[in-house]
Amino acid sequence: MIISGSDPAALQQAAKTLARGDLVGWPTETVYGLGADADNPQAVAQVYAAKGRPSDHPLIVHVTDASQVDHYAVNVPAVARRLIAAHWPGPLTLILRRRPGVAEAAAGGQDSIGLRCPDHPVGQALLRAAQALGVHGVAAPSANRFGRVSPTTAQHVQDELGEALLILDGGACQVGIESAIVDCTRDHPVLLRPGMLTIELLSQAGGERVLTPQAHAALQPAAAPAPRASGTLEAHYAPMARVHLLERHDLQQRLARLAQDPQRAHWAVWAFAPLEVPAGVLVDFMPTQAEACAHELFGQLRRFDGLGVQQLLVEMPPPAIEWDGVRDRLKRAAAA
Ligand code: TXA
Ligand code: MG
Repeated sequence: MIISGSDPAALQQAAKTLARGDLVGWPTETVYGLGADADNPQAVAQVYAAKGRPSDHPLIVHVTDASQVDHYAVNVPAVARRLIAAHWPGPLTLILRRRPGVAEAAAGGQDSIGLRCPDHPVGQALLRAAQALGVHGVAAPSANRFGRVSPTTAQHVQDELGEALLILDGGACQVGIESAIVDCTRDHPVLLRPGMLTIELLSQAGGERVLTPQAHAALQPAAAPAPRASGTLEAHYAPMARVHLLERHDLQQRLARLAQDPQRAHWAVWAFAPLEVPAGVLVDFMPTQAEACAHELFGQLRRFDGLGVQQLLVEMPPPAIEWDGVRDRLKRAAAA
């Protein structure tokens, strides 16, 4: 059931639902989350069951502000404090050392914990209302079935998880792709998942170079591999359609071949600028600004699915760092 995030009674209903150990679909600025009281293992178990997610994949815990960090984490390094000061609330998740005995189920049994403070008025209002009822933090993965495209509207959440779930509507998510994840439990900060905050911005704010997992592995070949993160699985964020991510030149050639193919209904193309598209192939244009493209990305993939598209040709985004998040999601969609 979808209820309005601007209705105070609805907000209270959602907060009470969390406090009694049930699930709520709720908005953040990145994507919608499927929330549960992070300190209630039965509530957290319901999240894993609803998503069909393996229970050793850790969830992100969402907090109202930096004052809640020490409830969940210990030995918080200075680089993490600086990142928090610069980018919370915002689309940034930090992996920190977990306080022993706290939120073990939400952390999927890891000795670390992912923490994030979302920048969304309805999301923040829910966290605060739940906190007033004794909920320190809300564990929430993206509110999609495991491996699927993240939802960016309340309706997407209902399409994914059904009518029985209480869903707080906060409109379309502004950012549109999931938060950047920085692991601060190592000798160097490591970007486990790119988001819309670029690695350059994060390095500046952290006062220290944030490394890609590849750069970190090159620097510390003996270090343990990055912790398991489902958002970092190669094939993730997959629509129903098969996605082919191609440079413009290859895209044009593929379309030329498709012109000879009588089976070309059910094909679509999403590209930055007009190309020669054979009759019968659906075409739509990608925004040329990374922010706008991220905002539309998951909704667009769902729209193509809704139109029955089975094969989707997508133009490769530019190599510039502001496209890292979008390029990452498209590569994973194409790997599925
Ligand atoms: O923008 C977002 O981050 C959204 C909204 C709802 O906040 N959440 C989200 O959650 O994308 P999810 O569960 O779909 O992806 C969270 C990622 C996963 O890849 C998970 O494995 C990783 O964060 N993660 C969480 N806690 C971790 C930990 N302790 N160590 C390593 N990775 C962790
Ligand atoms: Mg997810």
